[in-house]
Amino acid sequence: MTKRKGIIMAGGSGSRMNPITNAVSKHLLQVYDKPMIYYPISTLMLAGIREILIISTPEHIGLYKNLIKKIGKIGVDFKFHVQEKPKGIAHGLILAEKFLNGSPCALILGDNLFYGNGFSNLLHQANKNDKGAYIFSYKVKNPNQYGVVKFDRNNKIVSIIEKPKVFISNFAVTGLYFYDSHGVEFAKKLKPSNRGELEITDLNLQYIKNNALKVISLNRGFAWLDTGTPQGLLDSANFIATIEKRQGIKISCLEEIALHKSWINITNFKKLPNYDTNSEYGKYLINLADDFDEDK
Ligand code: G1P
Repeated sequence: MTKRKGIIMAGGSGSRMNPITNAVSKHLLQVYDKPMIYYPISTLMLAGIREILIISTPEHIGLYKNLIKKIGKIGVDFKFHVQEKPKGIAHGLILAEKFLNGSPCALILGDNLFYGNGFSNLLHQANKNDKGAYIFSYKVKNPNQYGVVKFDRNNKIVSIIEKPKVFISNFAVTGLYFYDSHGVEFAKKLKPSNRGELEITDLNLQYIKNNALKVISLNRGFAWLDTGTPQGLLDSANFIATIEKRQGIKISCLEEIALHKSWINITNFKKLPNYDTNSEYGKYLINLADDFDEDK
């Protein structure tokens, strides 16, 4: 099986967050104790993905390069690509063609935050399958703001409607997509929508047409949070803070995931830039190393 590669879409105009995003990139905004993009990076890492392409605007791409440099070597190879104009999520696949070089991929939106017991297993299930595509659906109260899944009587997916005006179902399509090696080729055939973008929903419809789209439903034990509005961002931060404070753990700590996956050894872990800094995050990394040493 060819190794799957990851793509993170961290561009866009950020207009839903103005004026907050007038001078900063949305995906670097704070979700409690870490930048927003740490959450999608952690999702890809939990899927076992070790090569990641970050796509952002000409104005902001340098900021992501700086941020990643400051994470240090955690056994993940990051690459960067500019998207000159917000031409849509599916356009990201076309930009990633060289990087993918025929590999299957997982594409995630830079503002999507997932949390839940058993999530890693679901990610591995999607990763294992290198034929067709996998999407994840999640029940929401406001489906008209998303792509929405239409099922038939046997719970088989029949369609996806982007931002439907009439009610179809409560099952939104989340911003995490697994594609086989045909993703780029299908994306290239898409035509821009009314909003002038290559829609990810149209790409998924192509997979449905080929009878090659599977849906994993994230049930009520999961959180899929939208950090892309001021209220959503605050709610997400409070959610992360509540769990982290209660349990003394950190959600989406990239160094921790790399250590647990043995992508980095303990000696190099202790040399990472965020280790032993003044911050609570830095101290958390020290505690992790102490626990790790004790276990040995
Ligand atoms: C995009 C997709 C939509 C999906 C959503 C998830 O919406 O087009 O199908 O449900 O991401 O966050 P957009 O953010 O482009 O409006």
